Amino acid sequence: MVGSVVDVSLMDPCEKVEALPREFDPKEISCPITSEANGVVEENGKREIVLGRNVHTMCFTIDEPDADDEITGEKEAYMASVLARYRKSLVERTKHHLGYPYNLDFDYGALGQLQHFSINNLGDPFIESNYGVHSRQFEVGVLDWFARLWELEKDEYWGYITNCGTEGNLHGILVGREVFPDGILYASKESHYSVFKAARMYRMECVKVGTLISGEIDCADFADKLQLNKDKPAIINVNIGTTVKGAVDDLDTVIKTLQENGFTDRFYIHCDGALFGLMMPFVKRAPKVTFKKPIGSVSVSGHKFVGCPMPCGVQITRLQHINALSRNVEYLASRDATIMGSRNGHAPIFLWYTLNRKGYRGFQKEVQKCLRNAHYLKDHLRAAGISAMLNELSSTVVFERPKDEEFIRRWQLACEGNIAHIVVMPNVNIEKLDNFLNELVQKRASWYQDEHIQPPCVAAEIGEDNCDCVLHKN
Ligand SMILES: Cc1ncc(COP(=O)(O)O)c(C=O)c1O
Repeated sequence: MVGSVVDVSLMDPCEKVEALPREFDPKEISCPITSEANGVVEENGKREIVLGRNVHTMCFTIDEPDADDEITGEKEAYMASVLARYRKSLVERTKHHLGYPYNLDFDYGALGQLQHFSINNLGDPFIESNYGVHSRQFEVGVLDWFARLWELEKDEYWGYITNCGTEGNLHGILVGREVFPDGILYASKESHYSVFKAARMYRMECVKVGTLISGEIDCADFADKLQLNKDKPAIINVNIGTTVKGAVDDLDTVIKTLQENGFTDRFYIHCDGALFGLMMPFVKRAPKVTFKKPIGSVSVSGHKFVGCPMPCGVQITRLQHINALSRNVEYLASRDATIMGSRNGHAPIFLWYTLNRKGYRGFQKEVQKCLRNAHYLKDHLRAAGISAMLNELSSTVVFERPKDEEFIRRWQLACEGNIAHIVVMPNVNIEKLDNFLNELVQKRASWYQDEHIQPPCVAAEIGEDNCDCVLHKN
């Protein structure tokens, strides 16, 4: 069930929605603008993002209060109606969300009582600052849980609750850079864009490594690239679940490749587990992410599989590395070792709450359900003659990009070139998948009724075996 932390008196749909002056039209809010006005144009069948076109999006304006507003309460009623309509649109959009790896299945009703507090964990989680309205006690509890999961002793780890997986990558790569100031950053070309952003921000030399069809890093290419830069240490981003294909880089082979190419103790590995960092420990046969191996840091997003209703993440690194990065800050009476200054103090409480409720066993059950449902989706797509691929350790189903942008928007599918994906999260059940499959099969029949228009070939993206185009179907 979907819970809420906002004031119930404002959000009670029975009370407020009934009072609306006109029928609610979810399209008005969820799909208010044409794709062109939104900065995306389609020309000759090609989508292009045009900077500068995104200036006239729909918005709720802010109007100066009337002088007598306090007396009439009209403004209050107006705002309540906007919020109620917005809530309805969220319910509607949540029902049709499939493309982004967010677990929308949660109930945090019990935490509603905390919304009145400005909880801020600025500074180091382990050093209390002068600001007393914080949640460090929850933050450290959550960090301990993750350090245990990734097998790093309490007195050997450092970490913090970040604002998102991106911040985890920015931090992990920065720690690597501080450990090896002249290190070169290596990342597979299918790494998340935040990795390449980190390289730009820190002005680091960055080498892109090729990938296999599955999306995982190609260690033969990695070895070649290491050979070209033997004089500089290596900082490597290892993907524990790539963004588009859910591919898991083979950590053991990455380490072996480093050692075989003479980088025995001149490397730093950051593991980007934004999506899959909390799923993989519970997948049978999956290689282990553990600090018993020579890795420097691991990060994960808290709003993805874990299901926090606000963006957040967890970053864990070795305590020995953090001293190189941190500075004392007198004004805080704490230490600065994080990327951001102020940090969301609510997020650790949400994480603490859900980890307590689900525990290792709860997550294990949810992972198994996601993998089962992902197989169901992939098998049914293939049975319907639709190109599709599912990596062994993943719940991300990659398939042929639907032809119709309206369909893509309705199901909020993430697309890249000729492929789209669905990330099967705990809230994605068989009923939802069946609805999606039925609609896709029906629509597809109309998109391709003219035999001159054929579904795209996606062999280059997901392999010939997974491709069902005219050329490759058997
Ligand atoms: C592999 C990977 N890394 C990093 C990120 C960034 O995570 P966030 O959106 O939490 O910043 C994502 C997001 O999808 C991702 O897939």
